[in-house]
Amino acid sequence: MAAAAAAAPPFAAGDSPPPTALLLPRTTTTAGAAPAPRRSSASSRLHLLLTAALAVATSYLLLILPRTPLSAAPAPAAAARAQVKLEKPVVILISSDGFRFGYQHKAATPHIHRLIGNGTSAATGLIPVFPTLTFPNHYSIATGLYPSSHGIINNYFPDPISGDYFTMSSHEPKWWLGQPLWVTAADQGIQAATYFWPGSEVKKGSWDCPDKYCRHYNGSVPFEERVDAILGYFDLPSDEMPQFLTLYFEDPDHQGHQVGPDDPAITEAVVRIDEMIGRLIAGLEERGVFEDVNVILVGDHGMVGTCDKKLVFLDELAPWIKLEEDWVLSMTPLLAIRPPDDMSLPDVVAKMNEGLGSGKVENGEYLRMYLKEDLPSRLHYADSYRIPPIIGLPEEGYKVEMKRSDKNECGGAHGYDNAFFSMRTIFIAHGPRFEGGRVVPSFENVEIYNVIASILNLEPAPNNGSSSFPDTILLPSE
Ligand SMILES: *[C@@H]1O[C@H](CO)[C@@H](O)[C@H](O)[C@H]1NC(C)=O
Ligand SMILES: *[C@@H]1O[C@H](CO)[C@@H](O)[C@H](O)[C@H]1NC(C)=O
Ligand SMILES: *[C@@H]1O[C@H](CO)[C@@H](O)[C@H](O)[C@H]1NC(C)=O
Ligand SMILES: [Zn+2]
Repeated sequence: MAAAAAAAPPFAAGDSPPPTALLLPRTTTTAGAAPAPRRSSASSRLHLLLTAALAVATSYLLLILPRTPLSAAPAPAAAARAQVKLEKPVVILISSDGFRFGYQHKAATPHIHRLIGNGTSAATGLIPVFPTLTFPNHYSIATGLYPSSHGIINNYFPDPISGDYFTMSSHEPKWWLGQPLWVTAADQGIQAATYFWPGSEVKKGSWDCPDKYCRHYNGSVPFEERVDAILGYFDLPSDEMPQFLTLYFEDPDHQGHQVGPDDPAITEAVVRIDEMIGRLIAGLEERGVFEDVNVILVGDHGMVGTCDKKLVFLDELAPWIKLEEDWVLSMTPLLAIRPPDDMSLPDVVAKMNEGLGSGKVENGEYLRMYLKEDLPSRLHYADSYRIPPIIGLPEEGYKVEMKRSDKNECGGAHGYDNAFFSMRTIFIAHGPRFEGGRVVPSFENVEIYNVIASILNLEPAPNNGSSSFPDTILLPSE
């Protein structure tokens, strides 16, 4: 978010065009069964024996296989564990920015693995929303809404009507639509506390970002200090203790942009995040409340390596269409273009795609342009006047630039199509409402709002999560 993302150029996410098709699930059809050959009675007895042996082996396998449902998670059977010390349900929502799914295996991460082992996690990670950028995703987690509905459609964008510009330090309520969890809580008389989260400083409903419970973003605050402040809330008298708390770390996104996902610096950053989780667990244990608190650890998006040769230069499209710099509202990985009003939008898209497909533009085949209403509907990236009319989706790891330059392009990026596995992040939850050692199928982060509302017994605001989802992931409350 701010410090980390602010240091990075105002890039937004994109999607990838041609090989995206490869990401679509394929149904494999088994070849038609061959007709059974006639057998002698001896061979059919053997066949029966083999079949029986196979059946036993299969049922044994089913018993020892981890419980990893492939389609929908069946509701957990057990009931929630009774809270011992705390009187009310409590949720700590933690974000580790740019924590790509799989980073948890880069090094020994004993504390994160304790949460996984005794908690519930998403099998192949948490699916971010498109664009896979910090502000849109954090606010989707907080509101349960897609960016087109919550209004934060990029980390930076102009409002096409007022001309005002949204940046990562804009706290005016007009930008932030929908109802984030801290507002849902405050409106229903439940105390929330935010130690950084995009949108948390915005005054909305009954939430006015009170000094005692709402920190103003400052990327220089050491992580330890953030964890300790969260722990301090558990020393308050019960009626002042918040029930919903957020905690944010800029890492390992910060390092990911500089060096890409496969560098020792990432491993170090992951170890440090694990240490912070350990510090939190230890502090909660000291206070005797660790088993009473629902800790939900997520990231906002993943990270993919980028390097020199994976670049598309828009000025090479000049023989087809000359793009002015001020039409380009965000460049990479989310290419967003608003041409002047007197130009035909379909014409701009057609000319750009003609150039990109001509074989004469370097890497042109790795970028495809769309009218926003023609984007794949699974991206939900059309229904907002704030979304520019023309969107380009680069292939995974490709970047778009205005013109060739000699700057070093090697590092990491995110913002791409949320179907890319590299954009996935983590969902790891531990506490009285989460079954130990349970693995559930991956899901989109817009589901989290309803899960937290359910734990806290809050009436959820309208959102894009499914109302039945909490029952599939939570232990029923006692
Ligand atoms: C689960 O919790 C128990 C008790 O706190 C602990 O001893 C055990 O190591 C934890 N399991 C994992 C996988 O960390
Ligand atoms: C940000 O945090 C640092 C470290 O705690 C502190 O020294 C600095 O004064 C803070 N800045 C602001 C503007 O509060
Ligand atoms: C998301 O939820 C909002 C609020 O209920 C609704 O207006 C919008 O149509 C929903 N979007 C999708 C894609 O379902
Ligand atoms: Zn980032």
